[in-house]
Amino acid sequence: MAKPKKSYICTECGYKASKILGKCPECGEFQTIVEIEDSETEDSVNFHQGYAGASNAKITRLSEVETKEFKRIDTDLSELNRVLGGGLVPGSVILIGGDPGIGKSTILLQVVGNLTKKNLKVLYISGEESSSQIKLRGERLSVNTHDIFIYCSTNIKEIIEQCSEFKPDILIVDSIQTMYVPDVKSSPGSVSQVKESTQEIARFCKTRNVSCFVIGHITKDGTIAGPKVLEHIVDAVFYFEGEQGSKYRMLRSNKNRFGEVNEMGVFAMTETGLKEVKNPSAIFLSKYDKEVYGSSLMVTKEGSRPLIIEIQALVSESNAEHVRRVCIGLDKDRLSFLTAILQKAAKSKFYAHDIYVSVVGGLKISETATDVPLVMALLSSEQERSLPRDACYFGEIGLTGEVRPVPNGEERIKEAIKHGIKTIVVPKQNAPKKADWWDGKITIIPIIDVIELIKTFNDLSKKK
Ligand code: TYD
Ligand code: MG
Repeated sequence: MAKPKKSYICTECGYKASKILGKCPECGEFQTIVEIEDSETEDSVNFHQGYAGASNAKITRLSEVETKEFKRIDTDLSELNRVLGGGLVPGSVILIGGDPGIGKSTILLQVVGNLTKKNLKVLYISGEESSSQIKLRGERLSVNTHDIFIYCSTNIKEIIEQCSEFKPDILIVDSIQTMYVPDVKSSPGSVSQVKESTQEIARFCKTRNVSCFVIGHITKDGTIAGPKVLEHIVDAVFYFEGEQGSKYRMLRSNKNRFGEVNEMGVFAMTETGLKEVKNPSAIFLSKYDKEVYGSSLMVTKEGSRPLIIEIQALVSESNAEHVRRVCIGLDKDRLSFLTAILQKAAKSKFYAHDIYVSVVGGLKISETATDVPLVMALLSSEQERSLPRDACYFGEIGLTGEVRPVPNGEERIKEAIKHGIKTIVVPKQNAPKKADWWDGKITIIPIIDVIELIKTFNDLSKKK
């Protein structure tokens, strides 16, 4: 039986506290810790420790553990397969987060439409839209609505009962914020309801080998309500993102037990649903072909695919007491540290300038290989000297100004060649030793520190 006990949880990040605190030690927000009636039981503690059937587990020699071969399911969307790590793993639970209206329901309806063609039994649970709304969307997307089953409910107990009888292979829960477990007192959408509902769904899916996509609405600060408490319950967390006004959508893996983190799939929203973008490098460049101040190209590689993207910077003199630093898609701390390095090495007067930097196309890049291209864009804007459109850069910069190598150098150079780049500035250790595959196709400029980088900037850039 459930033994209700009091617990305290942060409504922002899901941190569990032992008492009411003014400030959450995890996310630093104030007045966000609330008391909840927790239905956590001994049972669910076992459940937390994994899905391996903790109650009747026994100590086993690792080599003698039986391994089950699982065959991934092809979703017929190669961009989604890529993010999943090569297809959908049976019995896996995937949380898909994103802003309302970004296209979460659309992509999942397309996916289940594809899966019905493989004789998989699909059940779509809707807590938000009516069955007729979903039918209309399905018809618009030309999916096979005959073989998709729908159940409109928000009561997890009822849903699990129906699912136990219906025995689906694939389950969609749209959305987790509307679901509630009747035993839990708080209202749907609260951290405890979201957590308990996800736990119930995951428990069902794991025991019945059902693959499930759970849709979650993102909160303003970019996190799904209670991400910390959900992350360990689900197998994968994907975010669906896109720039306002742009038709392009990126699906990024934030966590994946069956694939790489930061893997990205790219789609374009059209009249008839989401279409795959198989060669996305071109969409992350601005349409502006002229050489401009404050723009540099880079080859990024987060996940399994290298991409050419554009970084833009605007450095402008400021008369305000405090200068502004705005970063869109890049890390603010790294910008501060790169401006500090440039102040020393190039005598740049960034302390008296407002600086805005962004990644074109609404991408968020977390790898440090952005340091070198960001420095190029900053110098280009500050000194009003443009860089060639057929040159690109990558590399990490250390605190002492050394340029450090980054993973997958060769792959990045090959991607640059593929896109007609003529010059590439790379960390010295990333420069290829043998001249067989790249010779003649591209000029590689290896650099060891910021001083050499500034010199390279002066050589490559030109004044209007
Ligand atoms: P939706 O999948 O409902 O978003 P979410 O579930 O993330 O809230 O997507 C809604 C948006 O997508 C809406 O603005 C209309 C647009 N859309 C298209 O452009 N083409 C289509 O074929 C469909 C179905 C939706
Ligand atoms: Mg929706």
